[in-house]
Amino acid sequence: MKIEFNKEELSDIEKIKSKYPQVKSAIMDVLWLAQKKFGWISDEVKQYIADLLNLPYSHVHGVASFYTMYFKKPMGKYHLQVCTNVSCMLSGGEDIYAHVSKKLNIGHNEKTEDGKFSLEEVECMGACGGSPMIAINEDYYENVNISKVDELIDSLK
Ligand code: FES
Repeated sequence: MKIEFNKEELSDIEKIKSKYPQVKSAIMDVLWLAQKKFGWISDEVKQYIADLLNLPYSHVHGVASFYTMYFKKPMGKYHLQVCTNVSCMLSGGEDIYAHVSKKLNIGHNEKTEDGKFSLEEVECMGACGGSPMIAINEDYYENVNISKVDELIDSLK
């Protein structure tokens, strides 16, 4: 895939840039757009964004490598994030993570051979009131249990 935003996306980026006093503040939004389009944040993507925003590559790399929400390698079509932080851990998050890992036969930051699922054990996702929770791509599922998670995964197979 050619690493290039189209006209519409470039126009969206201009709008994003206009929200901030400094262009470097737009970087997280632009990285997110890039991940949606290209699937993950490769070195080539980081260089493209650096050129696009007229920022040093090292700055783009620094932000992209610091935040775990930016993928460092291609992930599955469905990226499952299982929270095992305190609230979720106390309500079964670790068991859910272990179950999903065994069910899909993959570990942290790995993807299934068919590329359909990837798994990530994550820190608090800000949904503690609905713990335990998992996220599938950008959708949150709260108050889940192992059978509910099985249902969700099986519905995507
Ligand atoms: S501890 Fe899991 S969402 Fe906060």
